[in-house]
Amino acid sequence: MPRQTKPKRPEFKLAPLLLRWYRAHGRKDLPWQHQPTPYRVWVSEIMLQQTQVSTVIPYYGRFMVRFPDIRALANAPLDEVLHLWSGLGYYARARNLHRAARILRDEYRGTFPADFESVTALPGIGRSTAGAIMALAYGQRHAILDGNVKRVLTRLHGIKGWPGEAVVAQKLWALAQQHTPPQAVAVYTQAIMDMGATLCTRSRPRCDACPVAADCRAHAFGRETDFPAARPRKTLPVRRTRLLLITCNGRVLLQRRPPAGLWGGLWGFPEMPLDQNTVDWCREHLHVRAYSPDPWPVLRHTFSHFHLDMQPLRLEVSEPAGIADDADRTWYDPRAPLRVGLAAPVKKLIGQLQNQAGEPRNDTHRQMRLAG
Ligand code: ADE
Repeated sequence: MPRQTKPKRPEFKLAPLLLRWYRAHGRKDLPWQHQPTPYRVWVSEIMLQQTQVSTVIPYYGRFMVRFPDIRALANAPLDEVLHLWSGLGYYARARNLHRAARILRDEYRGTFPADFESVTALPGIGRSTAGAIMALAYGQRHAILDGNVKRVLTRLHGIKGWPGEAVVAQKLWALAQQHTPPQAVAVYTQAIMDMGATLCTRSRPRCDACPVAADCRAHAFGRETDFPAARPRKTLPVRRTRLLLITCNGRVLLQRRPPAGLWGGLWGFPEMPLDQNTVDWCREHLHVRAYSPDPWPVLRHTFSHFHLDMQPLRLEVSEPAGIADDADRTWYDPRAPLRVGLAAPVKKLIGQLQNQAGEPRNDTHRQMRLAG
């Protein structure tokens, strides 16, 4: 017999069971399900990448009020887009959304394309996100394979290995395609995501309420939480930096970060390397005398590939030190905030500066597990 390379066709039909379950238990009142135009669905799918529905809902509402359509988004300055994204994390998503909106304004007369190839060619839209948009907004038959669906399928079919590995991903895509029905694809797509989010959850799946528990390999062996296999562990490296919290008459010096890289395009504190002398560096780069900066507790922010330990150094100056507001630097007034993007740790430190009467706690390492 020739070796079988394709996964076997599923011997049971997932879609009808799932659709029946969805009619009774699925989510039908999410904001992006109202008037599911391609634009509204697109923005929701980008916001929902690696982010929970409950977190996204208020951001989505504000975003839609300010940017009700592609042109409104394309015509807005990036700062404003990042401002409305502040706190959601993974800011490359916002930059890509904005870039894509400009492409759609300039090359598609402000409309969203209805073919899969054009959609995947836009910045920030991968295969699964494109599949979700095509299915939810246009009812086109395309498979999706986000984190929820990976969990459902690895359990259902007992697929071993980490889904980030190419061979595993290939098997999962094949299964995702086989299960996607020709009809009712929008409802099916929402249903499988809802099932992953509400029943087939990571640590405590509710198999008692699952419409396909009887067909689930992982459930048959009582090994639901062994699937999907975790990414092979490696300890994350630690990077270290210093943040200069320089204030002058209640204002704090912020500068725009480079467009690519960590927190790209957002505003943050001037940052200096650890191996340099603070006084020399501040004199050279900021024309500021930094003789007795007050060190605040180190703040840790964990990214997917490393920890970033930030040592804030607090410094009050009596004059703006020749630093004037320009396109990339500003004396930021927390009492009259600008509409620009601030990363979560920057927001937090500005808050601490504001109520400095309540001194920052003196534990030396605080862990911040925030997105982005
Ligand atoms: N996660 C990704 N897309 C989603 C959607 N449309 N509804 C709920 N959760 C999601």
